[in-house]
Formats: sequence, structure tokens, C-alpha cells
Amino acid sequence: MTPREYMMKNKNKTIVIGITGGIAGYKISGLIKLLKQKDYHVEVVMTETAVKMFGTEIFQKETGKPVFYQLLGKDFDYREIVERREVDHIKLADSADLLLIAPSTANTIAKLAAGFADNFLTTLSLAVACPIVICPSMNVHMWENPQTRENLDKLQKRGVIVIPPDSGDLACGYTGVGRLRDIKEIAGILENLLKKSKQLSGRKILVTAGATMEAIDSVRYITNRGSGKMGLAIAREAKRQGAEVLLLRSQKAVSDPSIPEKTFSTAADLKKLLEEHTPVYDIIFHSAAVSDYIPEKKYKGKIESKRSLDLKLIQTAKLIGRIKKINQGIKLIGFKAVFGKNREEMKKIAGDLFRSSRADFIAVNDVSRKDSGFEADDNEIFLVTKKGTVVKLEKAAKDKIAAQLLEMTV
Ligand SMILES: Cc1cc2nc3c(=O)[nH]c(=O)nc-3n(C[C@H](O)[C@H](O)[C@H](O)COP(=O)(O)O)c2cc1C
Repeated sequence: MTPREYMMKNKNKTIVIGITGGIAGYKISGLIKLLKQKDYHVEVVMTETAVKMFGTEIFQKETGKPVFYQLLGKDFDYREIVERREVDHIKLADSADLLLIAPSTANTIAKLAAGFADNFLTTLSLAVACPIVICPSMNVHMWENPQTRENLDKLQKRGVIVIPPDSGDLACGYTGVGRLRDIKEIAGILENLLKKSKQLSGRKILVTAGATMEAIDSVRYITNRGSGKMGLAIAREAKRQGAEVLLLRSQKAVSDPSIPEKTFSTAADLKKLLEEHTPVYDIIFHSAAVSDYIPEKKYKGKIESKRSLDLKLIQTAKLIGRIKKINQGIKLIGFKAVFGKNREEMKKIAGDLFRSSRADFIAVNDVSRKDSGFEADDNEIFLVTKKGTVVKLEKAAKDKIAAQLLEMTV
């Protein structure tokens, strides 16, 4: 490691905190104190409503630096910008290792979802290349409002990390979900995110996701319940940790425009993509749900529905078995969906798959459950190693499972 690399590795990370006009804003001086104790460099940006509510002094005092809240200050002179070629919100965006918006009002969430850039904070949010974390805090009805849910959904799909509010007594007199998450918890989450933010840089990770579709005729196909959510969560987390990622996803799987991807429809399409990309990747998470059977014959046009129909399905070659043949040095994390099996049975099934695929890990999940696995937002995984050790990843959101899988396998 060169002295410069050493310095860069240990340089204090910069957290930019955006404070919006939510009443929980007063708690942020405590959060700044905690982050400064952990040696983070903290900068504060406020919306005009937040400035009217709290003033800038308490945050200025806590950070020891001026607070940003105006795109155009009263002394603005365009000639200075042209001469210096430096604009505050862009300079700040470039320096940020993480942008935290806490508390995040329903209003700012809506603006971010729509891509507005009408104040310092929303403009900065569009300009940053670092992870964005938001901590919504609001009245319970505002939180449950379908518009707010839709806006948050949009942001999460773009990779924004949402730390949801807690339930409890709210400043507005209501009891329910809407309280800003405890500042110690927020500080812990940020620390974890920053620790991992560049740990996979230089690694090339390929992820397959979603269900294949095999045509019966020109309008019908057979498929399965694989949604691609687990694969997408892995791709997002790997990208967030600095890896170069390519997602090979089914056309009907969930997607995220910020993740580089190629799409497939049939097992044969996926095979072609694997032949093309596997040679130049270091690690592959093969979570796609590939059909084991395809119709022997594909009918042209639409089969008339006047009579009953016998369909003959033939077995497809297992794609997982091809991967190490294409690139024997690649680290292969295979996924195996099982239906209602116990731990010992899962271990045995994984053992068979290790032999046929030479995988490095097999992630087994039980798809007989409604609350995890196929289509669900949560998953529970039994991660089996080549030596037969089984580690249970307790049921959790797929993005959390993705982070655990990366930590344990890469
Ligand atoms: C006393 C008071 C408290 C407020 N608290 C919240 C809140 O906790 N969360 C929220 O989303 N909006 C809250 N609002 C409404 C926002 O301040 C309002 O939507 C404003 O437009 C937000 O602007 P900003 O997102 O640019 O900061 C509150 C308003 C007032 C007057």
C-alpha cells in the first residue's frame, strides 16, 4: 500500500447531514455529537423550513462550520463562480462519503422522488455520487399516506436507503409510527455502511436473478415464482460496497435502473449470457430460478383451446454445472430452492449440488413458506459450505440477507 493509499484508507469520512422541517430536527445536534466522537467529518445542510424552526446556530456550534441552506446567498456574484469554477453544492457533493437526510419530511421525500432541485438540499441530493440514507419522521397519517409510500418505494428502487421511523408518542399528539429512529441506532447504521462502502472495490461480481420463461406457443409460457428480488438485493449491496456488478436478470424480474444489467427470457438465453460474461468475473451469485423443464415443441401462433392438450416437457441441462467449466477460478455461490425440507435434508441436497457444480457455497431456501423465499420481501437462508457446515441466516429483509451473504462468502 502506498502512503497515499494508506492516507486515503484512513482519512476521516465526510457525512453530510440534511435537516428538513420536521420537528425531530432538534435531535440532530445529538447525532452530530455522536458522529464527531467517532471522528467523522460532519457538514450540515438545512431546508429553509428547518432554518425557520431551529435556526442554524446549534448545528453550526456542533460542527464548527457554517450551515448550507441557500443556493444563492445575498452576496452572490456570478463572476466569482466563472472565475473560481467552484460552486458550493457541487463541491460539497463531491466531498461527501454519505448523505444523510434526517429528519426527512414527507415534503422533501416527495421532492426527491420527483427529482426536484429547488433548494440547496434537493440540488445536492441530485449531485452526490455517494449513498443516500433517509430517516423519515412525521405524523402517522402522513407516514401511512399512499403518496408517501409510493414516493419511498421509488427512492428505494433507486438505491436510497430508508431507515424507517419507530412507533411511539409523536410530537403532534398522536401515537403510532412516525418517530425519528433513535440517534444511536442511526449512528450505528451509518458506521456500518461507511465501513463497508469500499470494501469490494476492484471485485467483479456477476449476479443472475429471476425466473426463466419457456414458450409453449407464441402467447403462453411456463415459468416459476422466482421474482429476482434476492438477486437484485445482492447486486445492489455489492455495488454499494464498491464492486463492479453485472446483473443478468429475467425480463419479468424486478429491476433497478442504477444497476448495470442484461436481460434473458429462456434458460438458453441465460446460458448464452453466462458463456459471454462468466470468463471475466471473479464471483458469481447464481440466484436465477432456471426452469428444469422446457416444452419439447414450441407451437407457432396460439394453440386453439377447444380440446385438451398433452404437453411433453423435456429436462434442461443444469446451468449451474456449466459455470466452473467456463471459468474454473470463479467463486460460485449457488442457490437451491427446496420445498418443506428439514435441515438435514437441505444439507444432503446441497451436498449433491456441490458435487455436480463444484460450487463454493450453496444458499438453500425453503420456498414452501409464504413469508420468505419466492416473491416475498424477506428470506431465510441455510448457507452450506463445501465442508458441510450449515449457517442459518435468520429471516430478514432480502437486502439484509444480501449483506450477510456477501460478508460470509466474498
Ligand atoms: C411545527 C411543525 C412541525 C412539523 N413537523 C413535521 C414532521 O415531523 N414531518 C413532516 O414531514 N412534516 C412536518 N411539518 C411540515 C413541514 O414543515 C412542511 O411540509 C414543510 O413544507 C417541509 O419543508 P422541507 O421539506 O423543505 O423542510 C411540520 C410543520 C410544522 C409547522
